[in-house]
Amino acid sequence: MLKQEIEDGQAGLADPAFRADVLNGLAARPRAIPARWFYDRRGSELFEDITRLPEYYPTRTETALLERVCPEVARETGTGGAVIEFGSGSSVKTPLLLRAVRPAAYVPIDISGDFLRDSAREIAAQFPVMAVEPVEGDFLKPLKLPAGIGGLARLGFFPGSTIGNMAPVAAVDLLRTMRTSLGEGSSLLIGIDRIKDPAVLVPAYDDAQGVTAAFNLNLLERINAELSGTIPVESFAHVARWNDDRARIEMHLEAQRAVAFEVDGRGFAMAAGETIHTENSHKYGDRDARLLLAAGGWTVTRAWTDEDGLFALYLAEARGMEVAP
Ligand code: AVJ
Repeated sequence: MLKQEIEDGQAGLADPAFRADVLNGLAARPRAIPARWFYDRRGSELFEDITRLPEYYPTRTETALLERVCPEVARETGTGGAVIEFGSGSSVKTPLLLRAVRPAAYVPIDISGDFLRDSAREIAAQFPVMAVEPVEGDFLKPLKLPAGIGGLARLGFFPGSTIGNMAPVAAVDLLRTMRTSLGEGSSLLIGIDRIKDPAVLVPAYDDAQGVTAAFNLNLLERINAELSGTIPVESFAHVARWNDDRARIEMHLEAQRAVAFEVDGRGFAMAAGETIHTENSHKYGDRDARLLLAAGGWTVTRAWTDEDGLFALYLAEARGMEVAP
């Protein structure tokens, strides 16, 4: 654990946004806490472990796909531009794109300054001639890109099917915000997980080793540590279910018995079988993905999928919004 996290936990100086989301989420019906709060240090480590699980196909499928198609992406977009990554970048996927596209500048955007600086340093060491200009900020809001990338052609990169965490209305808002940040004429390379047999989907979010369960339950540990919680973590179970109407995997934390606990001095009670909804992971067919991108102001120019059709990559362009006729 970082020294800062230990201090925050003990002194009750938790992120006020975390406190508000947890208190409001536990009081709401249905109870729900946004998935972004999974990623404290332990949660980030557990997510790394998830990406290596035999049942969790997205990361390895997308990585293999990027290995295959990044040279084609480079032919479409050209080299020597700027790559803007939404999220601080993965040590495996990001270099695959940068090696093929050979941009003059790479701009990772992340809300966590620590992660951002670490990964920016690693990337800079690997690509000595490329300018690395990290931007600390929330990419859900329109961003001013560094002046240094001025006239360069812009390619946004949003891998991992992170878009799937958002409900369609929020996903469209984000795509439109990215369009505003990147500007007219820019491109976007985005990874989107596909709808498939629930017999494949559900185990990807409920693995035999229980790593995803630990990842989900870690949210309760984090609440206890940072918000003076008394949640009996061992009385909760990880649940992953396919919601076919909404085409999404849902993760919940289900009370196994009636429980009562406090968080930040406030009392909560849950009946046996009641759940806290902790994550949505929306899945998209090819038409769904194209419609989502179009609604966000992006015209698909190329699309790729693995031979089993598990995961898709879309290259899209921000061209004059088609509104008529
Ligand atoms: C990082 C949001 C893409 O939805 O697959 C993995 C997160 N949650 N296992 C996903 C996650 C449980 C992941 N994303």
